[in-house]
Amino acid sequence: MPVVKKVHHVALVVADLEAALTFWRDALGIQVAERREVPAEAAEIAFLPLGESELELVRPTAQDTGLARFLQKRGEGMHHLCLEVDDLDGMLQQLRQRGVELINETPRSGADGKRYAFIHPRSAGGVLVELYEVP
Ligand code: CO
Repeated sequence: MPVVKKVHHVALVVADLEAALTFWRDALGIQVAERREVPAEAAEIAFLPLGESELELVRPTAQDTGLARFLQKRGEGMHHLCLEVDDLDGMLQQLRQRGVELINETPRSGADGKRYAFIHPRSAGGVLVELYEVP
């Protein structure tokens, strides 16, 4: 049986990264480990590690992406919850068998070798859920 190991990260969509950091970094005091543009996702991301997990602040850098539409429609706030699993293919198969609606039927691969797939919020209580398999 595939296993969910931990909350890998929680991603928050923001309109203005610097403004968001005045709360998360300056007021709460959470350190920013890295900040970079991810052209493949049309986003600028700040990574704020927190123990075994991390917060990610994500700002869309183009208007025509799912992320940008999400921000336009729902405003700033939580974008997705990412769970690390030990066996992504096995977990996707288990979810499919249970009738869970997947956004990515087959896993995608990030630049850093992590494999991931998203579950539709319709099947997850309104929460966009990302699954990660870390090599
Ligand atoms: Co994510």
